[in-house]
Amino acid sequence: MLTSLQKRKTLTVLGINSGTSIDSIDLAVTRISHKPGKTVFQFLKGFSRKFPNDLRQGLVDLADNDTVNLDRLIRTDNALGDCLGRAARSVQKKMASDSIKIDLIASHGQTIRHTPQPEILAGKKRHGTLQIGAPEAIAAQTLLPVAADFRQSDIALGNEGAPITVHAMNVIFGSSSEPRLIINIGGMSNYFFIPKIGSSTFPLASDCGPGNILSDLTLQSLEGSRFDHGGKAALAGHSSEIVLHELLASRFFSSQMRSTGREEFGRMMLKRILELKKRESLSTPDIMASVAELTVRAISRRVKPILRKERSIQKLYLTGGGRKNNFFVKRLRESLAEIEIAPVEELGLSGDYVEAAAYALMGEMTLRGKASPTLFDRKNQQRRFPILGSLFQPPQEKV
Ligand SMILES: Nc1ncnc2c1ncn2[C@@H]1O[C@H](COP(=O)(O)OP(=O)(O)O)[C@@H](O)[C@H]1O
Ligand SMILES: [Mg+2]
Repeated sequence: MLTSLQKRKTLTVLGINSGTSIDSIDLAVTRISHKPGKTVFQFLKGFSRKFPNDLRQGLVDLADNDTVNLDRLIRTDNALGDCLGRAARSVQKKMASDSIKIDLIASHGQTIRHTPQPEILAGKKRHGTLQIGAPEAIAAQTLLPVAADFRQSDIALGNEGAPITVHAMNVIFGSSSEPRLIINIGGMSNYFFIPKIGSSTFPLASDCGPGNILSDLTLQSLEGSRFDHGGKAALAGHSSEIVLHELLASRFFSSQMRSTGREEFGRMMLKRILELKKRESLSTPDIMASVAELTVRAISRRVKPILRKERSIQKLYLTGGGRKNNFFVKRLRESLAEIEIAPVEELGLSGDYVEAAAYALMGEMTLRGKASPTLFDRKNQQRRFPILGSLFQPPQEKV
C-alpha cells in the first residue's frame, strides 16, 4: 500500500489537529501534487468535530496536572485515537459522496506535555514533548496509513520539538510577489515569517507566548463560559499595567526558548492571575483586558524586530481562533500601526484549518521520506534535517 502511494504524483491527504486549547478536532482535506521543481498545495475542505465531554475533560486534566495517572494516560491515548479515527472516517464518507477518495491521514495528536526548558538527564540536556491519540486506532478506523508523531525526530536532534510547521507553512503560503508574516493565535500564539520566493532571506518561526489560553481559563474560572466570544469581555475593560508587568516577568519572555505551552501559560498562571485580580481589586472585564493585552504584547514584542528588518512586509495575516477576538485585532492594529492586519482567509485558506493543513503536507513528506528543516537562520543552521513523523499502517483483510 505504501509503495503504491509513494509512486503517485498527486495525493489527497487528510490532516488532523487538536491544538493546545483542546477546543475541537480540526480536519483539513488537501491535495498535494508534484510538478518539476515544485510542490503544489491545494486546500479542499475543512471540518470541525467536537470531543465527547468526558474525553475533553480527561485531556485537560492530563495536560494541566504535573502528576498524572499512568493507566489513565494510556487509556486516554487509546480513546483519543479512536475518537480521531471516527472523526476521520466521517470526513472520508463525506468526501466520498463528492467522489473524493482520501489516500493518507496525517495526525498531530493532542499535546499533553511540552517541556522546552531543558533538564540534564544521563549527562545531556533533554527537551521533551508528548502527543497522544493512538495513530494505530486511526488506521484501524479508516483503513488508511497514518503519519503521526511529528515532533520526536526534531527532539532527537536536540531541538525543542516546536515549532515544526515552518517548512510546511513556507510551501503553503510562499509567494513570489510578497514576503508574508502570519500570526497564529491559538492556545499559544506563534509567528511565521515567509520570505518572498527566490529571496535569500531565511524563514523564521517561533512561539510568541500565550494566545487565547489565559483568556479562556480566566473566563472559565470566573464565569464558566468557554471563551471570550468576540473579545467582548476584554473590550469592556481596561488593562492594568501592574498586572501586565508581573505577568511579563514569566521566564519564557526572558529566555531563548522558541516554544511554550500550558506548562508555562496555563493553570499555574491562572492562579497568579486570580490572585492579582483580587490584590488589585479588578473587575472581570479589567482582568480579561489585562490577560488579552498580555497576548498582544507577546506578539508585538516578536513582530516588531521583524518589521524593522524586513521593510517590504505590507500585511500581517491572522490565523487561529484568536483572529475572531476583536480585542486582539483592535489592539494589534494599534500597536503595529505601521502594517495592515488581515485575516488569513485573504490567502485562500480558512484560519480554522491552517495547522491541520500544515500537518497534511507534513504527512505527505513523511510518506515520501522527505526531510523538513525546522531551523533556518544562519546562527542555528542545522547540519542534519529531520524527517518528521512516523508511519502507521492499517490492518489487512488477508494474510
Ligand atoms: N468567535 C470567537 N471569538 C473569540 N475567540 C474565539 C472565537 N472562536 C474561537 N476563539 C478562541 O480560539 C480558541 C481556539 O483557537 P484554536 O486556533 O483552535 O487554538 P488551538 O490551536 O490551541 O486549538 C478558543 O479556545 C477561543 O479562545
Ligand atoms: Mg483548536
